Amino acid sequence: MTEVHPPGTTPRTGFPDRETLLTAIRMACCAPSVHNSQPWRWQVGHRAVHLWADPSRALPATDPDGRELVISCGAALHHLVVALAAFGWAARVHLLPDPSLPEHLAAVEVSTMVPEQVDLVLAAASTQRRSDRRAYAPSSVDDDQLSRLVAVAAGGVTTRVVRSPELLALIAKADAIQSADGAYRSELALWSGRVGSPDGVPAANSTTETRYGDLVTRRFSVSRLVQPTGADSAGTLLVLGTAIDDRTSWLRTGMATSAITLTATVLRLATCPLSQPVEVRETRELLRRRVLGGRVVPQLVLRLGRPVVGAEPVPRTPRRSLMDVVEFS
Ligand SMILES: Cc1cc2nc3c(=O)[nH]c(=O)nc-3n(C[C@H](O)[C@H](O)[C@H](O)COP(=O)(O)O)c2cc1C
Repeated sequence: MTEVHPPGTTPRTGFPDRETLLTAIRMACCAPSVHNSQPWRWQVGHRAVHLWADPSRALPATDPDGRELVISCGAALHHLVVALAAFGWAARVHLLPDPSLPEHLAAVEVSTMVPEQVDLVLAAASTQRRSDRRAYAPSSVDDDQLSRLVAVAAGGVTTRVVRSPELLALIAKADAIQSADGAYRSELALWSGRVGSPDGVPAANSTTETRYGDLVTRRFSVSRLVQPTGADSAGTLLVLGTAIDDRTSWLRTGMATSAITLTATVLRLATCPLSQPVEVRETRELLRRRVLGGRVVPQLVLRLGRPVVGAEPVPRTPRRSLMDVVEFS
């Protein structure tokens, strides 16, 4: 991103018009969110766009601390920054601007800039990215692509490529613990297998098969997504973690998740978040100690790989109406 004002001078003031802002927020809402809960609210002021968490969309059985709710909002925040850049507005993001209002997650101020090619490409990717729960092609992701993905997740988030079978065992353990929990099962049934709903995970986006070799993935209630012929790989796993475990770290994890998944989309890679091992207290702690060496708090796992050539595109998941999530003040 290039700011257009000369060094040492103040940037040209101004604010995007209503149409531009609504389009940027619509693109921000394409972000991934846990169970497609879309737990965000946008408030447009005279000089800033404000992001609020929406606690009414919490998932108490799956995400009792609201951590994934904030991670999802962080992903939407990064999507907003990407969209604004493509429209020629550089964002200055203030995370948690009022400590007395923990639901006020960010205030975004803008100044004019000239978008670069990368801004346009990332913004286009925000409408093309999907969580792809299918198996991937046998050929693995190149090391230089993995390095690039690890590098884009800056901002205080550590990203590790983890190939240890211990991670697979912890994911399976988390799945077994959650599957034995009635409240978790009811919540998952409520939020998945949906048809014609503006939120939740549609049946068309989940696969009947949820085990790829030793990797276990979340079992959504109704599944209609077909595995492409020739897909046989679970892909590569990335673990995102932070030094501490607070709301700022969760927001930064969401921003890093957005940066990685959008860049992967540009590289024509498929991605899917896997959060079960960090939802269960016991497996999260084991992941921290045994896989991350005790110094990084795990926040999210991402699976990525090459989609099979010629595979049907994954359908777009629905989003809530802008009227339900945006307010002008
Ligand atoms: C914090 C977080 C956790 C998620 N956990 C999982 C998961 O464990 N398994 C899964 O299949 N998808 C997971 N997802 C993906 C969401 O279900 C997905 O983003 C949502 O359904 C919207 O679909 P889309 O990503 O294709 O736009 C997660 C997403 C986020 C942001």
